[in-house]
Amino acid sequence: MCGIVGYLGERPVMPVLIKGLQRLEYRGYDSSGIAIVGGPTSSTEARANALQLFKRKGKVQDLIDHIGGAKPEGKVGIGHTRWATHGAPNDLNAHPHRSGNGRLALIHNGIIENYHAIKESLIQRGHTFESDTDTEVLVHLIEEILAGGDCDLFKAVRLALSEVDGAYAIAVVDATSPGEVVVARKSSPLVLGIGDGEYFIASDATPIVEYTKNVVYLEDEEVARISLEDGLKILTINNNTVTPVIEALEVEIEAIEKGGYEHFMLKEIHEQPRSIADCLRGRVRLDHGKITMAGIDDHTEMWTQAQRVIIVGCGTSWHAGLVAEYLFEDFARIPVEVEYASEFRYRNPVINKGDIVIAISQSGETADTLAAIRMAKERGAHIFGVCNVVGSSISREADSGAYTHAGPEIGVASTKAFTAQVTVLALLALRVGWLRGEVDSAMLARMMVELQAIPDKIEVLLSQEEKVREIAKAYCQAPNALFLGRGYNFPVALEGALKLKEISYIHAEGYPAAEIKHGPIALIDEDMPIFFVATQDAHYEKVVSNMQEVKARGGRIIAVVTRGDTQAAALANHVIEVPKTADALVPLLSTVPFQLLSYHIAVMLERNVDQPRNLAKSVTVE
Ligand code: AGP
Ligand code: GLU
Repeated sequence: MCGIVGYLGERPVMPVLIKGLQRLEYRGYDSSGIAIVGGPTSSTEARANALQLFKRKGKVQDLIDHIGGAKPEGKVGIGHTRWATHGAPNDLNAHPHRSGNGRLALIHNGIIENYHAIKESLIQRGHTFESDTDTEVLVHLIEEILAGGDCDLFKAVRLALSEVDGAYAIAVVDATSPGEVVVARKSSPLVLGIGDGEYFIASDATPIVEYTKNVVYLEDEEVARISLEDGLKILTINNNTVTPVIEALEVEIEAIEKGGYEHFMLKEIHEQPRSIADCLRGRVRLDHGKITMAGIDDHTEMWTQAQRVIIVGCGTSWHAGLVAEYLFEDFARIPVEVEYASEFRYRNPVINKGDIVIAISQSGETADTLAAIRMAKERGAHIFGVCNVVGSSISREADSGAYTHAGPEIGVASTKAFTAQVTVLALLALRVGWLRGEVDSAMLARMMVELQAIPDKIEVLLSQEEKVREIAKAYCQAPNALFLGRGYNFPVALEGALKLKEISYIHAEGYPAAEIKHGPIALIDEDMPIFFVATQDAHYEKVVSNMQEVKARGGRIIAVVTRGDTQAAALANHVIEVPKTADALVPLLSTVPFQLLSYHIAVMLERNVDQPRNLAKSVTVE
């Protein structure tokens, strides 16, 4: 679930591990730890004592304080940030976990589902455990297999994993073999960085980019032995040889640093003009009067004949899916269903030939979304991935797809990834609509011009940040908030509420504005801030009526309106103006004030904006 880092080479190991853990902090975690295998010593016994292990509940800084003046030395080390699934977040449950004889140390992301049965049988064979984690059974299992003789660490890990159900990315070191690390993955990502005489291991590329651009993505059920002497060798759990494919990382180091902003989230909000421009680049061809998207253009017949589109995602990505429902219905005239991946995967959905499943995921690693596409694929659907992280599991398992090209999103609260998702989905709906004869040249040209203008319009919006901050000041003490919108702005209301609750911990709900009279209106009094999206689109008059209903009950209204608006603005206590655009593209603008608002409220409440409590950036467990 959380972060893995590892290093083999001549650099001082501890700083590489610590820096790597800090780079992974954005993912959200509750404890961290490192293990370094000591330098060569003469006797096997001395080597067994040469495992230097430090772990601590809390932030990486707590780990650094715990390590204090100690200077663990060696050429090989592993580090972990834990997001507890089994056992409370405390020092003992933090990773790395040790084998009973103290010789092995192991870190693990994910869940060993059959840990209980394995633990029971290990206990019967005399093993004792230090922690409550599922992870610890794995290191004991490997220890036992090694003790059986006739087997090296590489093989012992493969044998142990063949007994394990669940999801894992692991790294194991052996104090008696100080030049190697064995790693493996199944349903939890692992990337290997290949340097000059050195190797890096990480759960995503962020700890690696500053050292090397050459990476190997490990696939499910692959186990790799990385050795300073013998290099990299990959086998599947079933002993089939895998030839490593080295790929080039395209991420630059500046993209994962804060660049002068106080928080990653603020930087990412401000990056949106650029991230949307990057997303449009090469796809909107005004000169040719067309949209090109390789992922669709390779399957034009499939899209023209598609009977139904099912969109799956979680959280913010699910909200982008809801926007896509409107987009596909308006432009492509294909029936659309939008599903929470976590529900879809456990239903018994009817999937027919000709159905296309669009999986939306920033990280491309969300366990529920991954499981949903696997199930849909088995039932014959074509999977189209909309992912941000290049090379991620969903992007690799999809049959086709389009990257959002928003660049690394480090803040746990998704911002620029959402607007990039909506941009890609708008392009997709327009391209498919054109292929199906639903969108004519004039409409396509108009929408392309509008899309091209979005980055500048977001710049205009961002220049109102001070005004949004003032509004944040007025409402940061509110215990509850409602977000309301209709049509394309209904998902914006949901996303506004999610942003506020996840980073400020203020209870917030989003509703279609017309729904409030069916219940939520009972909540309205003079203490309740109500955030309306009342832009001048097809639903404007109706939303204004909903605002009247709220005003009549004394609610305090903050309205996002179209620039120059007077009617809706007159009903609001505070107004934020957004530039005019096509109805279908309004979410790209109307969502930005809510991002800024949530950000400033969270800062005023002194919340941990980039790593809100209990949340993880990439949810790789069910
Ligand atoms: C967004 O602010 C959230 N932190 C979360 O809802 C997120 O969108 C969700 O977990 C899905 O992640 P994904 O896009 O990486 O699949
Ligand atoms: N399931 C393991 C634990 O609870 C690993 C959690 C993680 O992925 O961080 O310790």
